[in-house]
Amino acid sequence: MKLIMLGAPGAGKGTQAQILSDKYCIPTISTGAIIRGAIKNETPTGKLAKGYIDRGELVPDDVVIGIIKERLSEDDCTGGFILDGFPRTIPQAEALDSLGIEIDRVVDIEVDDDLIVKRLSGRRECSKCGATYHVVNNPSEKGDICERCSAPLIRRADDNPETIKSRLSVYHSQTEPLIEFYKSKGNLLVADGNGSLDATYNAIIKALEA
Ligand code: AP5
Ligand code: MG
Repeated sequence: MKLIMLGAPGAGKGTQAQILSDKYCIPTISTGAIIRGAIKNETPTGKLAKGYIDRGELVPDDVVIGIIKERLSEDDCTGGFILDGFPRTIPQAEALDSLGIEIDRVVDIEVDDDLIVKRLSGRRECSKCGATYHVVNNPSEKGDICERCSAPLIRRADDNPETIKSRLSVYHSQTEPLIEFYKSKGNLLVADGNGSLDATYNAIIKALEA
């Protein structure tokens, strides 16, 4: 199973990918998480990417394509994978095609813009394993620490109102065209993400197993 999770910032890509990854026993590959790790470790890629992430802009295609090529060549990807946050531009999607990777399904989670701000301002993320929570909608049973690995939960630096606005605008101009791109290939599934976590999960499973 090779899946792509498509959707606006805060649509629930990471949250649903985490659940699907457990269900299908395949890894989730989040370019956002890989880049945040590189920034934390102050690698050359992290230093290059920091300004883009802080401004809510996309990191240049060649950098992200390089990251994905390397990650997909690892052993745990042989049985399938879930791409969360890649591709995000048409050139990135074309690069994936040129690697000869055949994607089975592209899940587009659709959420209204006004809900996005509420979701991102209440989001908390595990500082170690990256698991995602929400202070109201999906709190950790352990409070301020992660249910999975007991590391502290943090607020992402790009989850502030100004950067969220910029990320949404970038999504509409640069990523939304991928919906038509994959629709024309015939493997796009649309799931309504405006409901609860469970309702969104059920909509995805219904679409995947139809
Ligand atoms: P990335 O980390 O991918 O961020 P994003 O696309 O902005 O998406 P988010 O992670 O913010 O949202 P999500 O859809 O995963 O939602 P979540 O499940 O967390 O990328 C960050 C940055 O890295 C980019 O801005 C860019 O600079 C760079 N980058 C990454 N990939 C790139 C690429 N390919 N090319 C170039 N640059 C790249 O949910 C959000 C919150 O809502 C959570 O708190 C969750 O608990 C809650 N929630 C989720 N679903 C529901 C629901 N149904 N009901 C109620 N609450 C819900
Ligand atoms: Mg995410």
